[in-house]
Amino acid sequence: MKAFVVERYGKDGLRAADVPEPVVGDGDVLVEVSAAGINPLDKMVRNGEFKRLLKYQTPFVLGHDVAGVVTRVGSAVRDFQVGDEVYARPRDLRIGTFAPYIAIDQDDVALKPASLTLHEAAAVPLVSLAAWQALVDRAHTQPVRSLGADVVVDYTKEDFAEVLSGYDVVLDSLGGENLKKSLTVLNPGGQAIGVAGPPDPGFAKQLGAPKFLGVVVGLLSRKVRKQARKLGVSYSFLFMQANGAELRELAALYNAGHLRPLIDKTFPFDQTLEALAYVEQGRANGKVVITLD
Ligand SMILES: NC(=O)c1ccc[n+]([C@@H]2O[C@H](COP(=O)([O-])OP(=O)(O)OC[C@H]3O[C@@H](n4cnc5c(N)ncnc54)[C@H](OP(=O)(O)O)[C@@H]3O)[C@@H](O)[C@H]2O)c1
Repeated sequence: MKAFVVERYGKDGLRAADVPEPVVGDGDVLVEVSAAGINPLDKMVRNGEFKRLLKYQTPFVLGHDVAGVVTRVGSAVRDFQVGDEVYARPRDLRIGTFAPYIAIDQDDVALKPASLTLHEAAAVPLVSLAAWQALVDRAHTQPVRSLGADVVVDYTKEDFAEVLSGYDVVLDSLGGENLKKSLTVLNPGGQAIGVAGPPDPGFAKQLGAPKFLGVVVGLLSRKVRKQARKLGVSYSFLFMQANGAELRELAALYNAGHLRPLIDKTFPFDQTLEALAYVEQGRANGKVVITLD
């Protein structure tokens, strides 16, 4: 089958190539890909930014988000059957959604929200799991009010650190100066959760890295963690994880209309390289999705 594979790490390392159809393990479902969402993580993995921690063997198929139809199930699969419309963020080291088929561990898969098309559903898994794991699993946000905004700050006109204060949680998606400033708007005991880095020792542990690598990775965030301690707050890095059970809960929120995907643009599968280049420009307002049907 034709797929987009990382032949070698680097900006020009992604190519269309013929690869064998996936092997379906006992606990896997084989999904015929209808659409695959693109994430900044695709570019980072292609560039080899995580190569010390995520040991992919080149060549490997890229792509972290998928929606499609189950065409085969392994002998130990109980909750899915052929014909099911599903969505997933396959676990690290088993990615590969820029392809007509992918075999995914059943624990990473959920039925797609019935209210969304397959193309819309492909935009959802990674970003919604990241938000859920930051706000619910880590920040323990309570469902006291519906999602929305009390204050909107336009970063091109105002400095949020000048107008905001007294928050319990900040979810930072920029890192750097933005993260430093985020610490100052927190209440004592508050937590800043960063998804753009710098990584902390917990990240290396999550990926099963050897202890010395954990120490090295921890050094990258030493300064910001120290600064946080001084202010009586905390900083932690979050690297989202595959989770089919959470995707089931999220599907209910999409079906109830509490959440909706925002798609900037779709590209046909043949234009996957162009789609990734478009995402890299950083001008997309919403998700970019490649479609196979
Ligand atoms: N660790 C994880 O598990 C995880 C999961 C998901 C995402 N991420 C990371 O999170 C980051 C964002 O991902 P994304 O998919 O949302 O990227 P994206 O689609 O490129 O969005 C970036 C957003 O940041 C806004 N922005 C840029 N500069 C800003 C500033 N100074 N102040 C406030 N907002 C600003 C942009 O607004 P404009 O449109 O106005 O430029 C844009 O809306 C990436 O670094 C990604 O790798 C990490």
